[in-house]
Amino acid sequence: MDPKRFAIRTYGCQMNVHDSEKVATLLEDAGLEASSAESEADVLVINTCSIRDKAEHQLYSDLGKLREWKAERPGRIIGVGGCVAQQVGDSLLGRFKHVDFVVGTHHLRQVPELLEGARAGRRAAWVGEDKSPARFDLPMRRPEPSVGVRRKAFVTVMEGCDMFCSFCIVPSTRGREISRTAAEIEAEVRQLADSGIIEITLLGQTVNAYGRHDVRRGKAAAAGTMPFAELLARLDAVPGIERIRYTSPHPLFYDEDLIRAHGDLETLCPHVHLPVQSGSNRILEAMRRRYPRERYLEIVEGLRAARPDLALTSDLIVGFPGETEADFEDTLALVREARLVDSFSFKYSERPGTAAAELTDVVDAETAQRRLTALQDVQKAQTLAYHESRVGEQAQVLVDGPSRRGGDQISGRDRHNRVVNVDLGPDHGVLAGAQIPVEIIAATPHSLLGELLDPASGRLGPRGDSEASGHKSAPRQADEPGRVAGVADTVEDALRVL
Ligand code: SAH
Ligand code: SF4
Ligand code: F3S
Repeated sequence: MDPKRFAIRTYGCQMNVHDSEKVATLLEDAGLEASSAESEADVLVINTCSIRDKAEHQLYSDLGKLREWKAERPGRIIGVGGCVAQQVGDSLLGRFKHVDFVVGTHHLRQVPELLEGARAGRRAAWVGEDKSPARFDLPMRRPEPSVGVRRKAFVTVMEGCDMFCSFCIVPSTRGREISRTAAEIEAEVRQLADSGIIEITLLGQTVNAYGRHDVRRGKAAAAGTMPFAELLARLDAVPGIERIRYTSPHPLFYDEDLIRAHGDLETLCPHVHLPVQSGSNRILEAMRRRYPRERYLEIVEGLRAARPDLALTSDLIVGFPGETEADFEDTLALVREARLVDSFSFKYSERPGTAAAELTDVVDAETAQRRLTALQDVQKAQTLAYHESRVGEQAQVLVDGPSRRGGDQISGRDRHNRVVNVDLGPDHGVLAGAQIPVEIIAATPHSLLGELLDPASGRLGPRGDSEASGHKSAPRQADEPGRVAGVADTVEDALRVL
């Protein structure tokens, strides 16, 4: 029997979530149907992450359990993609006899072919580096985008990373930096806007390094790329797009133009997620981050001058080899000085083949855990203080769907990317994708509580499309969200599993 239904299990960052969307589109084009339950699927693709040891081991644990899933029904197929696939390659086929294909991060296009082979009993791995821009040549998403969150979409602008931070495996799992042409990016954004998308998040491992190699060599025009700030201005002009975000930028690639864009471009959201990793110059150097804390703070100051209400979030690592108590104190101080609204913080995890794996002065697990807890306590208090400072403000909330708390509450994101929950009462009819005006009335460390402004004015349409939001795009069908099986509804869902 030919496999009919597929599911995708996604781990890792936004790039992986988006790659899963791309694979879903390819499989749908190949005639398969997305299934919301793995128990019903014939094909399961695991899109893996390798950023920390725990993430990599998740795959081995999953594969152990999936022997049974595969044995339950003849003809079932298991594919492994993502960063672990790229890292360990075809050795996965030797180690796990029930894996049918392995697909590296540059070869998404080959998934249908690999599946075809697997159906014919041929097990294969496709994991080499592909330096050609042909890898961006994927089918355009259909008007109903295969994302769980409606009216928001990811758009790849560049892939790969040439930074080689000493702790990080990404340069070896994602390969060298490569940028798409601005024309291709703009065409995709226009198509998304035409299909009702109002918020885009531009993606790249070092997204603001977009086009940098071409620009430096004076070849941007020939390559069809341009400085990142120019790309933002071009996308800002696309009718229908109301919110632009980008992730993850690297501090090294902020110039005056990019900082100024935050004041000039109306659609550019007042939120930047700018990973700093450490507040200690000694550790930043050992991490090969290529900026001192002073430069990071200077960028933050510039961004705030351009956009005073900017919400800044970051990534932090504790317990990097050689980190002393004084270094850690510097990190705590930076969290305060940069006024981080929120952060993801991690214990350093040694990754095979990275420069930091050679370092011997490791921080013991207990100390690393103590520092992580202390850092998270400081952050939590600071996040709460920020949330409290927002009480009384008005905000536009783009609704993601029902709140996790259940009841009649919906949950969405404001332009600062904060989670806002709103109690709407029974039969409110507000669906994912609506943009609603609220007043912030309460704060917790995790979210804001909003109250719908003007609920009786009739400005809230049957789909919750508020005219007050002033969006320019066509209303969407009020059917079930186009959820892809196994693709996390939000990035937070994907990150939570790590
Ligand atoms: N490109 C982004 C980061 C992508 S990885 C940047 O340059 O900042 C996401 C986050 O995972 C990193 O910001 C870092 O905080 C964390 N991370 C990466 N490698 C890690 C490791 N070996 N141990 C612990 N955390 C790590
Ligand atoms: Fe990893 Fe550094 Fe590249 Fe970010 S910039 S992906 S942390 S090597
Ligand atoms: Fe992303 Fe994990 Fe790969 S964070 S780039 S999926 S290693």
